[in-house]
Amino acid sequence: MFASRQLISLPRRAFSTSIAANATKVAVLGAAGGIGQPLSLILKQSTLIDHLSLYDIVNTPGVAADLSHINTPSKVTGHVPENDGLKEALSDANVVVIPAGVPRKPGMTRDDLFTTNASIVRDLAAAAAQHCPDAHILVVSNPVNSTVPIVSEVFKKAGVYNPRKIFGVSTLDVVRASRFVYEIRKDFDPSTPISVIGGHSGTTIIPILSRVKTSQKLTQEEVEAVTHRIQFGGDEVVKAKAGAGSATLSMAHAGARFALDLLNATVTGKSGIVTPAFVSLEADPEGGKIVKGESDNCDFFAANIEFGVEGVKKINPVGEISGFERKLLDEAIPQLKTNIKRGVDFVNA
Ligand code: NAD
Ligand code: LMR
Repeated sequence: MFASRQLISLPRRAFSTSIAANATKVAVLGAAGGIGQPLSLILKQSTLIDHLSLYDIVNTPGVAADLSHINTPSKVTGHVPENDGLKEALSDANVVVIPAGVPRKPGMTRDDLFTTNASIVRDLAAAAAQHCPDAHILVVSNPVNSTVPIVSEVFKKAGVYNPRKIFGVSTLDVVRASRFVYEIRKDFDPSTPISVIGGHSGTTIIPILSRVKTSQKLTQEEVEAVTHRIQFGGDEVVKAKAGAGSATLSMAHAGARFALDLLNATVTGKSGIVTPAFVSLEADPEGGKIVKGESDNCDFFAANIEFGVEGVKKINPVGEISGFERKLLDEAIPQLKTNIKRGVDFVNA
């Protein structure tokens, strides 16, 4: 079964002004940015969170003061680098969401962001490994195909690596897939998730449209056009924003959906929540044998994962795919391996 469509959960505990010892703390790093602010706004509305901790190099005290007036029980704090702000933001966090870094401008690939974002993510990951080594780390910063391996390497070096707790958030690809299919088949419920596997950039994004159920089957021409639109949906937004950044609002929706699914599994113990994420295949050595041949030694992969109370409980196999999707997958794997290696080598250099 796929993840619940409900973003804002029902209250699970009575209103309390004090924060209990086992309180759920979520830290957002890059919280004053284009994604960070709307993401924090959605998270503030969830009663699964007791403490929302916002960190950025600028402006978080203002963002926190603003959000703290919303009449939900959670406490909101804002932190900047001064006065051990990063340590304060991260200490005792259960979940850390990282949208810190620069977005694309027209003409750039996600890989072009590596030069700036790799060191930002590496340094934030090092702080998380030190101050909240047991937290679930949700990586949004691009290029996700490389930044997730960076976080994993940093955690390995710190001796606190748990592959079941490090995720690249690829939910936006799923959100786009559902929406774009709905645009050509109005009998398709746009809240139905569609499997999107591989990675999170261009041709490494592989939507499994062969399993989508619509009353009038998608033609091969439609499959190819929608696949291309999902793979390059990010570019559509970058172009339309014309230099003012990339997807922020749809990403805030997608990031919050992923974070709240995770919290529903880890805090309330809800079972059966399945959603795609870019994870290390070590997170489930059995399920990690998800695709045959070329991808056998691809260390990270966006697959349907099932959440358990400790993060990844199970990686679901890719399952039956069409010849067209198999071809896309075979072409994507070398690119994915290059992206992953770049991240790993960066930390070990
Ligand atoms: P933005 O520039 O609007 O915001 C980024 C924020 O990060 C800024 O507030 C900035 O001050 C902060 N920041 C920079 N260095 C930092 C540091 N060392 N510590 C803490 N904060 C720091 O950008 P955005 O539009 O929010 O995008 C952020 C990232 O998310 C980009 O890399 C973008 O490519 C990526 N992204 C990923 C997805 C996805 O599907 N995974 C979707 C959209 C965007
Ligand atoms: C997206 O898919 O929208 C993000 O990865 C941002 C981008 O650079 O396209």
